[in-house]
Amino acid sequence: MYILLLLLLIPCLTFISADNCTDCLNSGKLWCLQTSQCGDATLACNTSITVSLNCPSRPQFAYDDEFMRSEIMVLTTAAQNENPQLCFNNQMPTMKLYKVTTVNCSTNYSDVTCVGYTAYDTKRKVISISFKGAHGQDQINQLMNGAIQYGLESYYTVTNGKIFKIIQDSFMLLWNGGMQADLRYLKYKYPSFELWVNGHSLGSALAWAASAWVVNIGLYKPEDMKVVVMGAARISDYNFAFPYNFHILHRSDPVAHTPTFLPSTVPSTTLFYPKTEVWYNNYMNPGDPYQVCQEADGPFCSGSVDPKATQYIDHLYYFNIDLPGWGHAGCPKNISAYAQP
Ligand SMILES: *[C@@H]1O[C@H](CO)[C@@H](O)[C@H](O)[C@H]1NC(C)=O
Ligand SMILES: *[C@@H]1O[C@H](CO)[C@@H](O)[C@H](O)[C@H]1NC(C)=O
Ligand SMILES: *[C@@H]1O[C@H](CO)[C@@H](O)[C@H](O)[C@H]1NC(C)=O
Ligand SMILES: *[C@@H]1O[C@H](CO)[C@@H](O)[C@H](O)[C@H]1NC(C)=O
Ligand SMILES: *[C@@H]1O[C@H](CO)[C@@H](O)[C@H](O)[C@H]1NC(C)=O
Repeated sequence: MYILLLLLLIPCLTFISADNCTDCLNSGKLWCLQTSQCGDATLACNTSITVSLNCPSRPQFAYDDEFMRSEIMVLTTAAQNENPQLCFNNQMPTMKLYKVTTVNCSTNYSDVTCVGYTAYDTKRKVISISFKGAHGQDQINQLMNGAIQYGLESYYTVTNGKIFKIIQDSFMLLWNGGMQADLRYLKYKYPSFELWVNGHSLGSALAWAASAWVVNIGLYKPEDMKVVVMGAARISDYNFAFPYNFHILHRSDPVAHTPTFLPSTVPSTTLFYPKTEVWYNNYMNPGDPYQVCQEADGPFCSGSVDPKATQYIDHLYYFNIDLPGWGHAGCPKNISAYAQP
């Protein structure tokens, strides 16, 4: 009886608070995330919600574990291989690689590259772009120094929000280094196809920048896109918003615990990763439970893990597959050798 009551109460409470936030924004006011108060610009508040997509609520679109596991995981992992087509051949044979773009994305280090690819599938009617994660300590240093030194900036008028300049700069090098021409060609050839955007780790940050950018320049509409990333760091303010945007997080992945505050660059701006987080507090085997979290990023879902108890290995394994290892091997059909120890 008690359990039944809880089950009835939880969705009910959620609904009221979401409704209130939306009502508040619709009346031209701001909603305070931390205090759940509605007010004008003078309301004392650490993080004001200004975009109704970001109101704490269920996402507009259903999360589909099977889709993420069997398709998005392959597209994301394929970026680890110099020839992503090897992964497609083994896992999604109708997906065809268009081009891989690799650019020098550091002014300070000689061994720091950023990588992305474009692909298309005439059976699924999809164009897909993916971004590879960071490799090596130099790249991590370059990203951390860049975040601290250059901070956040506004680039997008349509999708809102500010993002780290170092991320946008890295993305623009890829965009101008080939991905723009490749995506425009595919869009011209397949104008009605949906656009999927994905990545893991640094690739997630680049995927978010790419998603916002293609909307901002009018190439795609958010409703024609599916954005899914894994293991992303906090790279934006709260306002970054996208309707179909899932951020999958594995158990105690430490990358989800990057600082919420960088005093040297962005005083008074708390850093977030954009909504909607989906958290698996397990090995992510088929059938394992997960939580679709109500807010972008807070003291719940992966945020309930003690930052001291995080384990780097959870960053490398998604859907119980060693993402870099499986990708390097060309995503073989038999995944049992890639399971988390
Ligand atoms: C909505 O918010 C207002 C002001 O924050 C509060 O007074 C009111 O009780 C809330 N309504 C509901 C239904 O939660
Ligand atoms: C607002 O931020 C300050 C400084 O980070 C913090 O001390 C305070 O607890 C926050 N208030 C709320 C309501 O979260
Ligand atoms: C990348 O560019 C920087 C200058 O912007 C240069 O110092 C560095 O050597 C380049 N790296 C490679 C691999 O070309
Ligand atoms: C690049 O090197 C300069 C000079 O050493 C330093 O000031 C800057 O922070 C470095 N930038 C990055 C992104 O590492
Ligand atoms: C899959 O790989 C595992 C471990 O490498 C091996 O023991 C097993 O026989 C393989 N299964 C099939 C069906 O090939």
